[in-house]
Amino acid sequence: MRTEWYKNAVVYQIYPLSFCDANDDGYGDIEGIISKLDYIRDLGVTAIWFSPLYKSPDYDYGYDIADYKAIDEKFGAMEDFDRLLNECHKRDLKVIMDMALNHTSIEHPWFREAVSSPDSPYRDYYIIRKGKREGDELLPPSNWESTFTGSAWERIGDSDDFYLHLFCIEQADLNWENPKVREEVVDILNFWLKKGVDGFRFDVFNMYSKVYPIQDDDDIKPFQKGAKYYVDGPRMHEFLKEMNEKAMSHYDCYTVGESYHPSSRDAKEYIKEENRELDSIFNFDHLNSDNIGGKKFFKKKFDLKEFKRGLFDPQHDSFGEGWNTLVLENHDNQRSVSRFGISTLFHRYEAATMLATITYMGFGIPYIYMGQEIGMTNCHFHNIDEMKDPVSHMVYKLMCSYHMPKRLAFSFIRFGARDHARVPMQWDDSVNAGFNKGHEPWQCMNPNYKKINVKKDLESDKSIYRYFQKVLKIKKENDAAIYGEVKEYDKDSTRVVAYSREYEGKRLFIVGNFLNRKTLYILPRWVREGKILLDNYEDISIKEGVLDLKPYQAVIFEVNK
Ligand code: NOJ
Repeated sequence: MRTEWYKNAVVYQIYPLSFCDANDDGYGDIEGIISKLDYIRDLGVTAIWFSPLYKSPDYDYGYDIADYKAIDEKFGAMEDFDRLLNECHKRDLKVIMDMALNHTSIEHPWFREAVSSPDSPYRDYYIIRKGKREGDELLPPSNWESTFTGSAWERIGDSDDFYLHLFCIEQADLNWENPKVREEVVDILNFWLKKGVDGFRFDVFNMYSKVYPIQDDDDIKPFQKGAKYYVDGPRMHEFLKEMNEKAMSHYDCYTVGESYHPSSRDAKEYIKEENRELDSIFNFDHLNSDNIGGKKFFKKKFDLKEFKRGLFDPQHDSFGEGWNTLVLENHDNQRSVSRFGISTLFHRYEAATMLATITYMGFGIPYIYMGQEIGMTNCHFHNIDEMKDPVSHMVYKLMCSYHMPKRLAFSFIRFGARDHARVPMQWDDSVNAGFNKGHEPWQCMNPNYKKINVKKDLESDKSIYRYFQKVLKIKKENDAAIYGEVKEYDKDSTRVVAYSREYEGKRLFIVGNFLNRKTLYILPRWVREGKILLDNYEDISIKEGVLDLKPYQAVIFEVNK
């Protein structure tokens, strides 16, 4: 029977490689995760999304899957996963599996077979085309670019054939036009559903369908050459409906799609309840409000108005149609307290709690990325070799190939690197922050772990974790915070975020100061009689309806009509 448990869910994302390493081999593992489940549950979380745990050669750290039905050895065995699932369920925590189905690893047996012979039946599992001969030169089949830089095509040995990879060379795009591929996908989903998992996060799902025949993208300034032929493709909705009908609809399963720059029309169609495609998608536009045109390595001055548009437009668009998600961090983004023009030097607690308040009280499911609940910051990387993400290396190389000075290139990478979120979780101030017992972690530690860690946060009067507990409790216990319509106030303000949520006679008003200095805010009249539900400072100053907000202060008011 299908329920709507996801509507008041709170999801915690674990990047397994970096969460907790129980067997001290440098990689996080399932045993480590199990040891921290109480900590996660006590935060007020109701579901965990696990970044890929499957067998993978880790060219893209798990997002290149070599076997969709096997747990990677470094994380444990299938029995360990079964135990994890059981331990989660014992604690009323739902389990959301990550599914990277746009591409497989080139080490997946399908791909190995496919390239072993031009007659292999697996050839048609991938997108393989002849290159273009121009004189002595063999050019790729089209001018499409990988989202990770460079051509999206890689030559197969010394043949004239190329395979498509919209991400790393080691991630070959699947041919979703082939019904056999879609059958395999359904089989994989049912395998995990039968085990009892409760949901899926679909990696870059809106790239499954491409426009055929493959052609060059002749636009002068596309944001990504070829994107108009591979984002929100013509059969996207059909593919999702088919997956839903053949797998998800038979279980009480929640889905969230990670979308790659969806058009707003498509974004809405994917999540409309009556369409039976996905329950929700991620919207990341607000996370681009401090970079240029969504290019994460190119910093620009933070623009609060843009942040608000990115955060709230999807809330308005999806309201009454489907469900929304609320994200500040994940394994692909910098730490939130280290961006958005925030100064964490004196106000890390205030900034982390303000961000959580103004984001999670909105319309949609709060997603918390591990470490965010203690205000983990970006890492001070010294050089490119300390970074493990292939994207950091590819973009750095590309910049240097244009003769950009290395230091400058590195400063760009350091700004937007995904590595910031991928350093090990900081549990305490012992060796390697308690991530393990001393074996060198796969990715270097953030040197600030003696100052910022779970143990210290929990002992502090200003515990970010405890504030998260409060805000999540308010979220879950107030129907207005779940079902209420969002009405924005002072949209043009470059200082504050303010909005109300209203449902069945109850109104909530949320306001947060984005500045690291005081600012005055005139409260709407109806809020003035309200009661304060939460405040990230100990005191609040309101005189004649004017709120004197301290740096990064956030307040939630409750008003009964
Ligand atoms: C999105 C994932 O979040 C990211 O980590 C990965 O590199 C790409 N998809 C490709 O799978």
